[in-house]
Amino acid sequence: MKIFVVGGAGYIGSVCSELLLNEGHEAALSTHRPDAVMHFAANALVGESMQNPSKYFRNNICNGLNLLDAMVATGVRRIIFSSTCALFGPPDRLPIDETAQPRPISPYGESKLAFEKILRWYDEIHGVKFVCLRYFNASGATEKFGEDHRPETHLIPTVLQVALGEKPNVEIYGTDYDTPDGTCIRDYIHILDLANAHILALGESATGCYNLGTGGGSSVREVIESCRKITGRKIETIEKPRRAGDPPRLIASSKKIKKELGWQPQFQSLDAIVDSAWKWHQKFPRGYSD
Ligand SMILES: NC(=O)c1ccc[n+]([C@@H]2O[C@H](COP(=O)([O-])OP(=O)(O)OC[C@H]3O[C@@H](n4cnc5c(N)ncnc54)[C@H](O)[C@@H]3O)[C@@H](O)[C@H]2O)c1
Repeated sequence: MKIFVVGGAGYIGSVCSELLLNEGHEAALSTHRPDAVMHFAANALVGESMQNPSKYFRNNICNGLNLLDAMVATGVRRIIFSSTCALFGPPDRLPIDETAQPRPISPYGESKLAFEKILRWYDEIHGVKFVCLRYFNASGATEKFGEDHRPETHLIPTVLQVALGEKPNVEIYGTDYDTPDGTCIRDYIHILDLANAHILALGESATGCYNLGTGGGSSVREVIESCRKITGRKIETIEKPRRAGDPPRLIASSKKIKKELGWQPQFQSLDAIVDSAWKWHQKFPRGYSD
């Protein structure tokens, strides 16, 4: 298939593009009429969205709308959209399945929810079929591609930067949550498992929204411990107060995507995810600056 990838230079888009090319698909540009669009492009920092909501609504909604209109104009009728667990807000129950009520607590989450709603209308009115993949915490690396956001706010690369001596310590925001070790719990999903979900979504002709995580949860302290074990390095930590808007636990139910698309994650352990990330960071200690 010919796939038009938007945001393919980013962390998740780069790995999905790698997998698409490995599977013989073409990541086609405007000279070709693509069979589908994979839409990874977005501003994706929750904190920044609380400071500058306009940037988030303009890019994630208005620019997304431009993309949809271009698809309609050129007859492209299939899109796979990078959505997020941030559209749910603090959950009423865990794990979070697709019946949970979306209640975003940031402009970032709101912008993604708004785009999901727009997709529904473009399907109904223009016949644009969509799959929304609501990622939980994308993590890990392939041999070539890894995580290097600027600024880096994600936990695993931040901890590994400390292991590499690039940063003096890791700040832990909140150690008094109602969790076994007092730190926040998140659902880490390996980037290749996430990319595989995109490949499966390509083969799907119906529309749908799917939550995408491994269903397990790891606390901030567990992530740091795993990084110490895998790297063999001392990793200093500093305990800080809670950050506004951090729910104690976010864990996905991925039953729906397993049942409907046959998705099965290959990376079930946090150590395996960290190990893949560490190999990449050692190879590229300055990320994509090298
Ligand atoms: N990383 C995660 O854990 C995570 C979790 C949930 C959802 N997501 C979503 O997944 C997608 C990819 O995330 P990522 O971690 O790879 O982020 P990223 O910042 O590495 O990649 C996003 C890419 O999109 C590009 N981009 C932004 N606006 C654009 C525009 N208007 N036109 C063209 N390109 C544009 C950026 O330059 C960047 O290269 C985003 O939509 C994000 O909201 C990510």
